[in-house]
Amino acid sequence: MKFNLWRTKPIKDLLNEARDQEKLKREMSATDLVALGVGAIIGTGIFVLTGVAAANYAGPGVILSFLISGTAAGLAALVYAELASMIPVAGSAYTYAYAALGEIVAWIIGWNLILEYMVAAGAVALGWSSYFTDILRSVGINLPASLISSPLRGGIIDLPAIFITAFATIVALTGTRTSATTNKVVVAVKVLVILAFLVLGFPRVNPAHWRPFLPFGLPGVVQGASIIFFAYIGFDAVSTAAEEVRDPARDLPRGIIGSLALSTLLYMAVAAVLTGLTSYPRLNTASPVTTALLDAGIRGASLLIGVGALAGLTSVLLVGIYAQSRIFLAMGRDGLLPRAFASVHPKFRTPWVATLLVGAAIASISSLLPIEIIAQLANVGTLSAFIIVSIGVIILRYTRPDLPRPFQVPLAPWLPLLTIAFAGYLFINLPRLTWIRFGAWLILGILVYFLYGYRYSILAKQEPKIKRPTGIPVVPLKEPVFAFSQLFSRLFSPARLSLKLRLPRRRPGP
Ligand code: ALA
Repeated sequence: MKFNLWRTKPIKDLLNEARDQEKLKREMSATDLVALGVGAIIGTGIFVLTGVAAANYAGPGVILSFLISGTAAGLAALVYAELASMIPVAGSAYTYAYAALGEIVAWIIGWNLILEYMVAAGAVALGWSSYFTDILRSVGINLPASLISSPLRGGIIDLPAIFITAFATIVALTGTRTSATTNKVVVAVKVLVILAFLVLGFPRVNPAHWRPFLPFGLPGVVQGASIIFFAYIGFDAVSTAAEEVRDPARDLPRGIIGSLALSTLLYMAVAAVLTGLTSYPRLNTASPVTTALLDAGIRGASLLIGVGALAGLTSVLLVGIYAQSRIFLAMGRDGLLPRAFASVHPKFRTPWVATLLVGAAIASISSLLPIEIIAQLANVGTLSAFIIVSIGVIILRYTRPDLPRPFQVPLAPWLPLLTIAFAGYLFINLPRLTWIRFGAWLILGILVYFLYGYRYSILAKQEPKIKRPTGIPVVPLKEPVFAFSQLFSRLFSPARLSLKLRLPRRRPGP
């Protein structure tokens, strides 16, 4: 048996498929995309994790933590923007890896994106449930404890988490236009609430709270950055919308970079005001924004902030469902997942099977895992995607220099290499247990690939007809174990990688 794990999908085929297959509607503008990005980005990270990171890791230096993880995300955003403008097809990092690095890497990245979107959305549903319960409590309504907690946490069912997941799933199902409009309204509410917090809080800032600025030193700042990196997850969701954008080559880079820049500014401003309103150890709560306002003597704003948090979390959930279902669509189309994942609803023009499955999975995740574990898994999945996508940009610059790149990462390959360094640094600063969980997830993913995707891949069926685009020779392998060893040597040996890059290039042409 031949194991060809490195078959790549010709970019020409990717573009043709997006054009010819069951069609999504092209309805989104650059503004929709910025709203989509901000919708995906601003959520649990700012409303919950900022306080935890300041109190336990970075102190007021959390402002610098935001700068570090924002820089990592910003570099990755440039890298994503190049690929998104060049291969404007649904599937984001998964699709890029299929074109640049080969099927097994694409599968692994798709598998890790499940951590990024679906698992992160589970955390968001949980956060929504606890903010919602708090708001009801503040107006005197107490829901029975058994109905706001899952069986694993001593209750019967977490009704608010299931309710909001079902709501977001239905909105995502009924159409991109509905989702985009709902998302824009929700994003407007959350940005206004954040601005209100800044306007209310800024005059009450006491600079004495910023001293000492780095109570845990620089290591604390970096650890804080690894945790609050969660706050930046989501800008890449913009690139999953590629097949629904009117002018993807122009608007995708604008959407990605614009939404990230706006969110970074808001984050740093919120972190500065938050740590200036109260002393940082006080922020170790699930609702640090409200705590800081109350400590500074600003009462009556907590309801407003609560509503803003609910809006923020709803849009993150909505975009998480949106992005994950588009990635499943791309994987189903390629045969790496059952074909049903790719079926588009005849009326709504959305990938309905994938959307329903994603909604059900998020509801289950939010019932099963604690929020900290979910957030760390989401971080590790996203950082690994950043690293692989950056490698993809470098490889495509060598293997397909001929392809039009409406947006180009400046200073390539140095900037993508810097992205790898930043993301790798944040990765190694995550708790060791997270690496172990991540390793277990990867092994499970590789097993699923060999049991299903490898056999049913559409590319595998077409293989004899396809001329390999990268010029990398197919190595016949007799044993799966050799396939694994080839995979790891490819992933971990830069020398081998660069050797491959010098192999003959294929003829120009899309
Ligand atoms: N960035 C998203 C959030 O903070 C995942 O909730």
